Amino acid sequence: MSEFSYRDGSLWAEQVSLEAIAGRFGTPTYVYSRAHFARQYQAYANALGSHPGLICYAVKANSNLGILSLLAQLGAGFDIVSGGELERVLLAGGDPSRVVFSGVGKTADEMRRALEVGVHCFNIESEAEMHRLEQVAAECETVAPISLRVNPDVDAQTHPYISTGLKENKFGIAIAHALDTYARAANSAHLNVIGVDCHIGSQLTEIAPFLDALDRLLELVDRLIEQGIQLEHLDLGGGLGVRYRGEEPPPVADYLMAVLERIGDRNLGLILEPGRSIAANGGVLLTRVDYLKRTEEHNFAIVDAAMNDNLRPALYQAWQDIVPVTPNQGESALWDIVGPVCETGDFLGKNRTLCLREGQLLAVLSTGAYGFTMSSNYNSRTRAAEVLVDGGNTYLVRARETFVDMVRGESPVPEKI
Ligand code: LLP
Repeated sequence: MSEFSYRDGSLWAEQVSLEAIAGRFGTPTYVYSRAHFARQYQAYANALGSHPGLICYAVKANSNLGILSLLAQLGAGFDIVSGGELERVLLAGGDPSRVVFSGVGKTADEMRRALEVGVHCFNIESEAEMHRLEQVAAECETVAPISLRVNPDVDAQTHPYISTGLKENKFGIAIAHALDTYARAANSAHLNVIGVDCHIGSQLTEIAPFLDALDRLLELVDRLIEQGIQLEHLDLGGGLGVRYRGEEPPPVADYLMAVLERIGDRNLGLILEPGRSIAANGGVLLTRVDYLKRTEEHNFAIVDAAMNDNLRPALYQAWQDIVPVTPNQGESALWDIVGPVCETGDFLGKNRTLCLREGQLLAVLSTGAYGFTMSSNYNSRTRAAEVLVDGGNTYLVRARETFVDMVRGESPVPEKI
């Protein structure tokens, strides 16, 4: 089921036509469906059911305040990786006691702020980080709730750049050393050991690697109990992958049922940190064809969105479907859809069969996750607008960046003395 569908020969988001959105807000523009985000979050919350735990939306997937606020209204928790993400969650009305703080390089300032607002848990990635947090908590005369992110050394079988649970990756504490680290943490007056977590990678479309990781974590949980350390929760990291092009990820309910079954009657809450599966198919990037350029080798459609707006194709050779908002009648041809940035890697899609004309509006699908959040000002391009559709209502949740916004904080230097 998709909230983006054709009606009367043109693509709509919920009850609003994308032609109308482009006409009103210009292009490139990201368009999100509130119903999609709500439905996908609810699938996790419902599957968790009455089991104690939290669904902590991974803010990095899409951190627009509009999106965060709608999830906060549904009672979501949040997985953050920086002080900036924490402030966004607070500004959007998120509850800090439902926040888990992940990431390999939390600064002392970020730790202080997270302690002050009372996050649920710090996911600790190294002994060095644990010591830093202990010092910060001591200075603040408080106790920091922690989980150790262990590296279970399982192959997530996804793209190497987004595979994180192998022992050669920078993430987590080797599972073989975890018992010692737990023992040290449990002795600290300023740390409260409450959990264990892992994150093995993103865009996983099979349950098996998650269950492999879970088995290793549960073995650790049981050994900790033998040592007198009873954890409150287990956090399995990011959520399921999504369909970009024919992938068939399992239903969330199947995934959680398998996980809860393995947790069994251990007195252990479950935390998940899904990002992509809540956001990806809830967003499209609207872009207009500026020029059609036919060369001996290729047909290029030069559009007004580029790698700075949507980096995934350039960075991971990721596929995202590209469809005409209002299809033309006529002959289709093979097109490379490219942006105006001065890099050969600047493409949104290659070899797409489309019938194109200049001025036509296209939608790059599945761009609700890791789209806008990975955008930049490369080539001094101002960043896109973001619009949230809710039924027949349209909210501009981020105005298009202006040149003045872009150069704020910069200054020329005086002539050389
Ligand atoms: N928790 C942690 C600790 C993570 O590192 C991540 C993603 C998540 C949760 C969310 O995982 P998800 O549910 O989205 O799979 N930019 C890449 C994805 C990088 C993911 C990094 N970590 C992409 O565009 O494919």
